[in-house]
Parts: sequence; structure tokens; C-alpha cells
Amino acid sequence: MRAALPSGTLEIEPRTEELPRVDPKLTRAFCRRGRREDKGYLPRWRRDATDFGPARRPRFPAGCHNPRMSNADTGGDDTRIGLAELAQMKRDSRPIVMVTAYDHPSARLADEAGVDIVFTGDSAANNVLGYADTTPIGMDEMVMLSAAARRGTHRAFFMADLPLGAFQVSDEDAVRNALRLVKEAGAEAVKIEGAGPMVSRARAIVGAGIPLMGHIGLTPQSVTMLGGYKAQGRTAAKARQLFADALALQAAGCFAIVLEAVPDRVAMRITEALRIPTIGIGAGAQCDGQVLVWHDLLGINEGFAPKFVKRFAGVAEETRRGLKSFAAEVRARTYPADEHTYHMTDAEYALFEAEIAPGVLVADDWL
Ligand code: KIV
Repeated sequence: MRAALPSGTLEIEPRTEELPRVDPKLTRAFCRRGRREDKGYLPRWRRDATDFGPARRPRFPAGCHNPRMSNADTGGDDTRIGLAELAQMKRDSRPIVMVTAYDHPSARLADEAGVDIVFTGDSAANNVLGYADTTPIGMDEMVMLSAAARRGTHRAFFMADLPLGAFQVSDEDAVRNALRLVKEAGAEAVKIEGAGPMVSRARAIVGAGIPLMGHIGLTPQSVTMLGGYKAQGRTAAKARQLFADALALQAAGCFAIVLEAVPDRVAMRITEALRIPTIGIGAGAQCDGQVLVWHDLLGINEGFAPKFVKRFAGVAEETRRGLKSFAAEVRARTYPADEHTYHMTDAEYALFEAEIAPGVLVADDWL
């Protein structure tokens, strides 16, 4: 589960207060720009940020890894999915599969399963660190968890989240902390939540050469402002704001945008309008890709789950079964069995017995 959710379901009444209206001049400007893009026109600054050219999967010479990022587990496919391939997947209508992972073995399993994007989200806060929601997690924790997950990926595109407090204050903070995730954790891209003033952060991060994914709709870092874990964009005015936010993040240079807990038709119209991929979580089937939280999709989290969560495995149940069997066998002395046990020859054992016979071993020998 993404966070300790309030009782009830995600289907809570939409809020009644209006968000600020989108400036109609801005909307018209986006529409004009959209038409020019249909004819292949892109201003140079936007081309640089998000036009990655034909899909290429960069090949690295075998064994050519950043030693700080690598470990003994670097064998196998050294061809990574890159930004160009993700952009091409949208053009080809090939769904992008993204999953969160917060440690090395999980990331390795996701990579081996052929997931396209492995992502250390700030949902690590509630899924692995035991916080009630995502707000307390800090940069040091994110760097440590992301670096571990990054070492488990060899083929998947790897990204990490900027947590609350790491980018809201200033563009400088945003760039500094995004660079930490790139340099210290090996992230190939980062993600921030929000639009409005965060569009300037997006521009700054992309301007520093760091690929950025946006995230709008239900943004758990601002859960209090949103009035709880509720679906977003359920009125025409709020849907229009989401639409404008998505366009603004694209214009700022984001290479993709997460749409969380958004009505399917709103997500579909945003997906159609954007040149960059949308990744849905509770945003319907028409997004260019889907993301789920590791602990939700594998059934490690039990109990209440938001409407959009589907459990594809029952890992908690299987884990409990394994732990109960271990405890039962230890208590019955049936584990460890002979095949789990190291042996020594009778001759060596006889010598050992002689060495520890009373009067042979003196206290000094071990003090
Ligand atoms: O932190 C997270 O897990 C996320 C994903 C749901 C995209 O933001």
C-alpha cells in the first residue's frame, strides 16, 4: 500500500472548491504549439530537452560499468533501455512497464522479468521504512535505497524520486538533490511531484542535463493540500487544470509524466495530447505505460488497498508459510538435516578431541 490510508475507499467525493483557472492565452499558446509540432516543428530549446531522435539502445562494452555502481552481479545483458527507446515505445503503442523497487534483490528480479523502468520511489517511506506516509523520508535514505536498487538493474531504465523537501524550496535545491541521485545513486533520471511552481524546478533539473519524469494527479507529498488520498481531476475545471499542467511539464522538458488516480477519460485525453509518454497508476488503460508499487502488486502489503491496486502474487502469504515452516523445523530439530551440515574426517575429529581433553588445553590458549 502506498501509505497509511484513511478509512474508506479512494472513491471519496471530489472537492468542491475551484482551483485557479488556467490562463486562456496559455491554453491557446499550447494548442498553437501542438499544431506546429504535428507538422514536425519544435523550438530548439524543446528539441534539446525531449527530442531524443530515433530509438537507440546504447551498447556499452562488456564489463564497462561504473565501478562504484557495479558489484559481482554485473553479468548478462549490458544493453540498457534509454530515453529514446521509451519515446519510441509511445510512438509504437508498446506499453511501458514500470515498477518500484527499494533494494538490490527486488530490482534484480524486476530487471530479469523484463520490466522497462525500475524506480526507487519515495513510497519507500511507508513500504520499507515504516513511516505512515511518504512525507518524512529524506535525501540520505533515498540515496542509500536507490543506490542498492540501481546495482540490481542491467537492462531496465533506472530512476529515483526526489522526496518532499528536496526540491520545493528552490530551483538550486532541486538541481543539487537531483545531482545527488545521479552521482551518488546512479539514477539515470529523477521524478518530482506537482506542477505550478514546480514547473520551474522541472526546467532547472532538465536544464542541468538530468532527465526528469513529472507526476500529477494524486501527489502523495501534498496529501494534506489535496484533502486526502482521493482521485483527482474529477470535475471539468480540475481536469482542465491537469491537462494544462501536463502540457506545462512537457514544455519544461519532462520525458514522461506519471498520472496518479485520475479518471480514465481525462488520462486518455492527456495521453493523446502529449508527445511524451504518460505512465498511469489508477489512471485507466489508455496511458502509455503503467506503474505499481512493488509491495502492492506482489501482495506483500495486505489489508486495505486503493481501487487501482491489483495483487499479482501472494508474497506475504508465502513468506509467512516459509517462516512458520522454518520455526517448526528448528523446534522439532529436523532442520538442519545432514545435507545442510559440514563434516570433518574421523581422524581429524580424534585429534581435535585429544587437543581439548581435560588437562591438555590450558586457559591461556583461548584467553
Ligand atoms: O513513490 C512512488 O512509488 C511513486 C510511484 C507510484 C510513481 O511515485
